[in-house]
Amino acid sequence: MELELTGKRAFVSGSTEGIGYAIAAGLLHAGADVVVNGRDEQRLRGAVDALRALRPGTDVTGIAADFADAEQVRHLIGRLGEIDILVNNVGIFDVRTFADVTDEEWQRYFDVNVMSGVRLSRHVLDGMLTRGWGRILFVSSESGIDVPADMTHYGATKAAMLALANGLAKSTRGTSVTVNSIVGGPTYSQGVARAIEQIARAQGMDPADLKQAIAARNTTSLLERFIEPEEIAHLALYLASPRASATNGAALRADGGTLTTIL
Ligand SMILES: NC(=O)c1ccc[n+]([C@@H]2O[C@H](COP(=O)([O-])OP(=O)(O)OC[C@H]3O[C@@H](n4cnc5c(N)ncnc54)[C@H](OP(=O)(O)O)[C@@H]3O)[C@@H](O)[C@H]2O)c1
Repeated sequence: MELELTGKRAFVSGSTEGIGYAIAAGLLHAGADVVVNGRDEQRLRGAVDALRALRPGTDVTGIAADFADAEQVRHLIGRLGEIDILVNNVGIFDVRTFADVTDEEWQRYFDVNVMSGVRLSRHVLDGMLTRGWGRILFVSSESGIDVPADMTHYGATKAAMLALANGLAKSTRGTSVTVNSIVGGPTYSQGVARAIEQIARAQGMDPADLKQAIAARNTTSLLERFIEPEEIAHLALYLASPRASATNGAALRADGGTLTTIL
């Protein structure tokens, strides 16, 4: 299927690695110009160089900003320019009991995972509506629907993203702008790989064994393995394309069948 993304300009938050990087690479392959983002200038330059090497001659740029810092976000927005495809991918996650998460941590989770999408969408939506076409995607999670007890802080932000996307979509009525969410499932991104390696080291285990044990613990997964970042990116590419014109205000799953209900 031809995705018809040539000439579109996309911004992917949190895209120096993991799902965001896979989405940026996919958009680039489909013909879009891509702006990537991360907190660290050096890592960002590495991602821009790697993406340029994937598709020489394509337009890839990067803007560093930490979404936990409203001032850095304001600065990023000032440099963003016209965006046709906004992918709100940035997200932080960890496993912690509810009682251990401080107010400051709750605030940081909401700033990075939710307010990033609020601030970026507020900036790009009017331009999309005026130009008559646009795509806003939120990379949410099955943890926003079936919230784990030891990730309540994370799940609450992922549920908020679903609500935000659905509400925003209603201000696109009668236009060719759409706003949708992806409900991702356990994905073997670099962030997850690092977390697994850390835990394995602390427990004196082989990371590969721990990875397998964690996948096996997810008893509802129909996939029975971790999802690869590219598998999430494929759904993002479809939703970002003109082909997905009849899908708006929706939450589509790429969760490997982890959620057990139809809706
Ligand atoms: N992995 C999963 O199992 C899974 C499942 C469902 C949904 N998701 C969602 O998918 C999204 C991506 O997850 P992932 O696993 O691919 O993450 P990841 O591998 O940890 O990558 C995170 C990316 O975000 C950037 N980043 C982190 N904090 C940032 C901040 N405060 N400001 C700007 N950039 C920041 C990192 O860049 P720098 O380090 O260079 O700053 C990196 O490029 C998240 O929203 C996550 O909730 C993940």
